[in-house]
Amino acid sequence: MATDLHRPVTASGAAADAAPETAPSTAPETAPSTAPETAPATAPETASTSAPEAAQGPAAVRVQGLARSFDGRRVIDELELTVRPGEFVALLGRSGCGKSTLLKILAGLDREIDGTVLVPRRKATAFQAPRLMPWKKVWRNVLLGLPGRPGREVAEQVLAEVGLDHRADAWPKTLSGGEAQRASLARALVREPDLLLLDEPFGALDALTRLKAQRLVGEVWQRRGCAVLLVTHDVEEAVLLADRVLVMEDGVIAHEVTVGLDRPRDLTDPRFAALRGELLDLLGAGPGTAHAA
Ligand SMILES: Nc1ncnc2c1ncn2[C@@H]1O[C@H](COP(=O)(O)OP(=O)(O)O)[C@@H](O)[C@H]1O
Ligand SMILES: [Mg+2]
Repeated sequence: MATDLHRPVTASGAAADAAPETAPSTAPETAPSTAPETAPATAPETASTSAPEAAQGPAAVRVQGLARSFDGRRVIDELELTVRPGEFVALLGRSGCGKSTLLKILAGLDREIDGTVLVPRRKATAFQAPRLMPWKKVWRNVLLGLPGRPGREVAEQVLAEVGLDHRADAWPKTLSGGEAQRASLARALVREPDLLLLDEPFGALDALTRLKAQRLVGEVWQRRGCAVLLVTHDVEEAVLLADRVLVMEDGVIAHEVTVGLDRPRDLTDPRFAALRGELLDLLGAGPGTAHAA
């Protein structure tokens, strides 16, 4: 798997100043150092290798000593994270604890960092807001920013995968919330990512649509075999989908819970409820903590 190695833009990591990124000798960085946040976050395909991956076994994501500050305040502080190829990891944490910041760094949208971030070259991101271009039909949105000139059939194929091929010619404003989110997922999947980064993708959906979207993501993940990092505030969603649930706190991954339940997961299984309770406790949201936050 080709990888990107993100290193600090500057030696101190303090200022961006559009400094050209220096390429580490072990993993030539040929991707653009920044990408507009509105564009799908996929780097062009170029081969590179990395010594850390070879030395420490395969990993889809390897983050070491990561730090990110805003206005002198450390939001991420010496964070360590490893995600295995094909692993589904959910990331929980209180609002404002730095989940989206971490995801943007992994997506390559934020390079003002200290530490080392190793991610697959093929990666794609879907956010809570579908971020579709209103002046482009759905199928063109799916292909937006892809290298080469892929044909409509490429978009149609991936739209079929998310159950939206019948809306290929629709304008984004005519889509329901669930449909728009599926279009956003199709735009990520068309990049055939080794790492799929999802930032609260179901957060704005109603309960039933959310359940369907969760099931869809689970199916897509099983079919594709890519690694997934799902940021969510929904503990149940995390236990439903993930192999491993992480809790972020004080700028680091503070807790980790492995979900060893068979799939598809049964919400009525007492072990499901136990894991859910354990995570709620870790988040400080268990029974009796209603006034703690
Ligand atoms: N571009 C930015 N400039 C200044 N502060 C930021 C920026 N992005 C995020 N932050 C701050 O960093 C903290 C973490 O934000 P974020 O990663 O969005 O949290 P989460 O996704 O966990 O809710 C928040 O306090 C937020 O205000
Ligand atoms: Mg966020």
